[in-house]
Amino acid sequence: MTTQTEQHDRAAGATGGDRLMVTDTRTGNEYELPIENGAVHATELRKIKVSDDDFGLLSYDPAYMATASCRSAITFIDGEKGILEYRGYPIEQLAEQSTYLEVAYLLINGHLPSQAELDEWTDLITNHTFVHENIKEFMQGFRHDAHPMGMLLASVGALSTFYPEAHAVHDADVRHAQVIRLIAKLPTLAAFAYRHNRGMPYVYPDNELSYAGNFLSMLYKMSEREYKPDPRLEHALDVLFILHADHEQNCSASAVRSVGSSQVDPYSAVAAGVAALYGPLHGGANEAVLRMLHRIGATENIPAFIEGVKQGKERLMGFGHRVYKNYDPRARIIKRAAYEVFEVTGTNPLLELAIALEQIALEDEYFVARKLYPNVDYYSGMIYEALGMPVAMFPVLFAIGRTSGWIAQWLEMIEDPEQRISRPRQIYTGEHERDYVPIGKRQV
Ligand code: CMC
Repeated sequence: MTTQTEQHDRAAGATGGDRLMVTDTRTGNEYELPIENGAVHATELRKIKVSDDDFGLLSYDPAYMATASCRSAITFIDGEKGILEYRGYPIEQLAEQSTYLEVAYLLINGHLPSQAELDEWTDLITNHTFVHENIKEFMQGFRHDAHPMGMLLASVGALSTFYPEAHAVHDADVRHAQVIRLIAKLPTLAAFAYRHNRGMPYVYPDNELSYAGNFLSMLYKMSEREYKPDPRLEHALDVLFILHADHEQNCSASAVRSVGSSQVDPYSAVAAGVAALYGPLHGGANEAVLRMLHRIGATENIPAFIEGVKQGKERLMGFGHRVYKNYDPRARIIKRAAYEVFEVTGTNPLLELAIALEQIALEDEYFVARKLYPNVDYYSGMIYEALGMPVAMFPVLFAIGRTSGWIAQWLEMIEDPEQRISRPRQIYTGEHERDYVPIGKRQV
């Protein structure tokens, strides 16, 4: 077996290395493209030209189906085998033994913290949970029924105006300060958005509580002097944050990297991540799953629903994944966590329906042939609902957990000498050289 360095040396041409031999039938010319880490550098294609003034060959890959946009040492996924690792640690072990703040440290710093490192990290985050009062007022300006994800998106972006020094993205100390603030303040913004929707006064952070416990307090505290979260719910929420923390180059992480590559401040880059996560094909899917289950209503309606999916009328939300072609390991952990939560809250009647729907789908040729399995969003919504969360809050909860991943991806991108401003090429398919026609002379 060869090491990555050996592969790299070989690819660089030092020892011959693996090559892709290409014959351009337009010219008859032959090219050798180095293969490195199972990839061909797309810029190598530019050497393939018909003439000297030809721009060179492009690779066409809408939606990045076969394009690696970066090297990354953060998260590993084997979609065929259903493996997910953060910095090499299996998600199952982290979900069982770690905490969200420790996982956030791991993702961002690359190693599990010592006790002293974890204490300092936890202290720093706990002491940055408050937001400027003007942020509160800004959020109060939203309509009473504003979607909390829209509010989160706007308020995360607005944070950049409160920390103008954050634009110094090449200063490691400045970066560190924003990392702490982002992880600390996201739950506060999320909880304010929730309370706003309910017409309830915003609750300030309680720094005596854990990360998840404080979030529950900011959501649900009423007139009691001290809010005491149920430790089982606190733990379930913490596990959900861990499971959502990172997922390599997904749509929102790519958005954060792409926007961050312009060297804008991290609040603006993370706001782009929130925006991407808002969509129903990404973080909005858990919301869509709940709406779908409510609509199906009863097990006897499942066959007709499945038939509609197979005819392409709609999708089975919470199923399928660009990378996993096997059971999403996070879905398995969440399914277990759902039962634990229901012990506290009483069962969610939708669970039975979801399990029946899953079983029918997993045995149906349509889903088998396309390798469509439950993903992270299939069961998470049911837990959120059991925790008393309205569906509009589901992507917001996803965003809290994912913030550490976005930041880890952003930091890696900023420090990567190979990265430049993200700027895809296009294949132009429009008109050429048309003369402008004054409006009165246009034929319609
Ligand atoms: N229900 C029915 N058919 C589906 C589904 C689904 N959920 N997902 C994919 N297919 C079909 C699709 O119609 C296509 O069939 P055909 O080859 O006959 O045209 C085939 O499977 C391949 O689908 P695709 O859309 O080309 O796959 P993709 O990799 O572009 O899409 C996906 C991935 C997650 C967007 C898609 O599976 C989907 O829309 N799922 C439902 C939404 C969802 O649950 N999203 C959450 C993703 S996990 C959280 C996250 O990481 O963001």
